[in-house]
Amino acid sequence: MTRIVLPGLVDVHTHLRVPGGEHKEDFASGTAAALAGGITTILAMPNTTPPLSTPEVLAATRETAAATIRCQVGLFAGASPAHLGRLAACAPYAVALKIYLNDTFGSLRVEELPDLQRCFAEWPREKLIAMHAEGQSVAVGISMAAIYERPVHFCHISRRDEIELIAAAKERGLPITCEVTPHHLFLTKADAARLGPLGDMRPRLVEQSDVDALWAHIDDTVDCIATDHAPHTLAEKHSASPPPGVAGLETSLPLMLTAVHNGRLTLERLAELIAANPRRIFGLPPQPDTRVEVETDAAYTIENQNLYTRCGWTPFAGMEVRGKVLKVILEGRTVFEEGRVTAEAGSGRLVMDRSNFS
Ligand code: NCD
Ligand code: ZN
Ligand code: ZN
Repeated sequence: MTRIVLPGLVDVHTHLRVPGGEHKEDFASGTAAALAGGITTILAMPNTTPPLSTPEVLAATRETAAATIRCQVGLFAGASPAHLGRLAACAPYAVALKIYLNDTFGSLRVEELPDLQRCFAEWPREKLIAMHAEGQSVAVGISMAAIYERPVHFCHISRRDEIELIAAAKERGLPITCEVTPHHLFLTKADAARLGPLGDMRPRLVEQSDVDALWAHIDDTVDCIATDHAPHTLAEKHSASPPPGVAGLETSLPLMLTAVHNGRLTLERLAELIAANPRRIFGLPPQPDTRVEVETDAAYTIENQNLYTRCGWTPFAGMEVRGKVLKVILEGRTVFEEGRVTAEAGSGRLVMDRSNFS
């Protein structure tokens, strides 16, 4: 048996559904799922109901989080055209700003140029801006980064043309970073056809050639692996208008370790993508005395039954992977052991980016 030790993983793209979507996930269930997946820090997305777009909603959500989280959690503020006057006031409560340029789950969207300009002018320069940008919107985001001379992080990049545009922008020295998700690295359109609504998310699954392009850029252009954990119940997924999104917290590390086993990237590179890079890009504090012990030899099958996420299903059910999390130590405390999350709700901490301390 080969036991490896990794640093605590950081997931910069998690939907925890508080407030308003607690039947899909809440802070206690979502952070349990994170720990079961070896993830000790997560950044929670703002497309909640109501969205995290005012200081009041952010402050109240931080209070709920403080009482119920089991690992370290930071919040995104969400750019909402109706509340742009409050952007700067949101900053003390959030690690970064999220701007949705394209259609996805929830109502947050920035569609007009003056609103986008206002986000870049008013969100504090020392804090990051992350974007849901697909297709041509990636070019919009790159140009905003160039014109305002400030970093932009692209969420869940999925297509060949997008990753190639980002590579070109980086070559020109623009302050651009990006994440890719395990589902875009392991699944294609063909899986979407097989899975139906359980294989539907934004961005959608695409061609094998797109998947190949993401892998071809895994050692240079890709900065982070992020889960885009987006839980919806099976009832919602099987309804007449299924919402897009799939769970990912508990399957990301085994899938990526399977890729290491298959020689697609090195373990050293994986550690950069899942821990060092996201921490640096978002300016997150280090986690002393934190480690994830993983058994990497034995193959096993991903099953819906064993999940901590409240939605209770994964598009990867039935897939054979390697990399079973044995134990997670978070800042000196054992928080996961022998298949069980042992961290109490409320034992996690809210985190901020480094700009709040300087
Ligand atoms: C996300 C969700 O459900 O909140 N859905 C998705 O398909 N990825 C929203 C998002 O990340 O765009
Ligand atoms: Zn998105
Ligand atoms: Zn998302």
